Amino acid sequence: MQVVINPQPNLEKTDNLFVLVCEGDSKPDVNLTSELRKKIRGAIAGGRFSGRQDEVLTLLAVEPRKITLLGLGRPEILSHRVIRQALTRLGAVAQKAADAKIAVAFPYRIPGLDDLETTRWMADNVSHSDYRFDTYITVETEEKTRAIRCTYVPPASIDRKLAKRLTNEASILSAAVETVKNLGNGPGNEITPEEIGKRAVELGRKAGFSCRVFDKKQIERMKMGALLAVNAGSDKEPRFIVMEYSPRKPSKTVCLVGKGITFDSGGISIKPADRMEEMKFDMCGAAAVIGTMEAVARLKLPHRVIGIVASTENLPSGSAYKPGDIIRTMSGKTVEVVNTDAEGRMILSDALHYASQQKPDHIIDFATLTGACVIALGGEASGLFCNDDNLAARLVEAGLKTGERVWRLPEWDDYKDYIRSEWADMKNSGGRWAGAITAAVFLKEFVDCPSWAHLDIAGTAYAESRTPRDRKGATGVGVRTTVRFLESLD
Ligand code: BES
Ligand code: MN
Ligand code: ZN
Repeated sequence: MQVVINPQPNLEKTDNLFVLVCEGDSKPDVNLTSELRKKIRGAIAGGRFSGRQDEVLTLLAVEPRKITLLGLGRPEILSHRVIRQALTRLGAVAQKAADAKIAVAFPYRIPGLDDLETTRWMADNVSHSDYRFDTYITVETEEKTRAIRCTYVPPASIDRKLAKRLTNEASILSAAVETVKNLGNGPGNEITPEEIGKRAVELGRKAGFSCRVFDKKQIERMKMGALLAVNAGSDKEPRFIVMEYSPRKPSKTVCLVGKGITFDSGGISIKPADRMEEMKFDMCGAAAVIGTMEAVARLKLPHRVIGIVASTENLPSGSAYKPGDIIRTMSGKTVEVVNTDAEGRMILSDALHYASQQKPDHIIDFATLTGACVIALGGEASGLFCNDDNLAARLVEAGLKTGERVWRLPEWDDYKDYIRSEWADMKNSGGRWAGAITAAVFLKEFVDCPSWAHLDIAGTAYAESRTPRDRKGATGVGVRTTVRFLESLD
């Protein structure tokens, strides 16, 4: 939904005013008229609403027509997660009631954020509260998603001018996250490597970044042996995409690298059929990079940002790469393939080598890389692997601020033993133990940059089923944290 931040809202013709309230808060400090405040206080004092988590109370009013109180639970447990859950409820309630114009007030600060940061985060996340990927729904099983206009009521400390700026920033972030969700949720027969290239070009034109798309011939000329090896089993051409945003006097140069496997069957080392359809999400790293490019260009951040995406399908066929094959990567290093399902690190080896050649200050890659990372962290945090403590700290901090947590795991050279090969410089899988780490250590072999981070988003890029917080499908993870990180760079 579209969200406008307004510190002096006119709530006439508003269908529903949503107020998020913590348990035990008898006088929510909302920036609204004394009349409305009184009404809200009355409902709480009368015992009809206590603010327990997931509690919903709708009161009939005049202007606005309704007031809906949403419970957040105890203030001590207030978090991004709790608020997101309340917002998902909000979106559902508003859609169900066919509210066309709503207002939202949140009379607190998100832990760790000031009023300004809280307001931007809220406006962005409110706008995602009714997101639904319904492009392919022709027979409605639930109510049709209607367009909702929303006024977000910030605290009194946010003046009109600031509200305008924050509205703009929040809507840029929200649109970029939507880009990531739509790419991620799109089926593998539509979101092909070629299509990802086209969308990146189109987005670049609209948002203001340049985009070069290399086809198979050009990828061959660049000697990207690993990307070509994974592509060998597919009838669709691979793509290597390089986006660039540069302000006039850039402060830093940052390369963002994304894994763009548009479908991962495992290849010859084929995956079990059960839930294989989830592997359409194996391009969420690429989507995060493309969405971040959109946000960075539209926000006109002061850094040069280069977005790099390697994209192909991973399928078995008579021409597919196979276990035992030895592949010469773009860097010249050779890899013995022991498992064709470890294809993400293959294509990233070429992309990270290419990124290193650009001599950036930082490289950050995003990849739905390992099931092992999902085993370790589930959906609550992305795995972070980093050769630079300062960069790691900034990413952890950015993740805490956005609610997209990242958790650091080691990338020690000790783990290189796990991927030692008899026949080549390394093999592409270290087996069962420490699977997320050995994948990161493999990637590190292709990084020539003193400040590199790898984010394994296998557990965070999509929700495998609906939860109170998320709809099933792509979460859009990556954009908010990366933008936040870039804003923290001088
Ligand atoms: N795309 C998968 C990783 C994945 C698994 C993402 C589950 C999301 C959910 C990746 O290409 C893969 O297959 N990794 C293998 C590596 C193994 C063969 C060394 C894995 O994790 O099992
Ligand atoms: Mn795989
Ligand atoms: Zn994969």
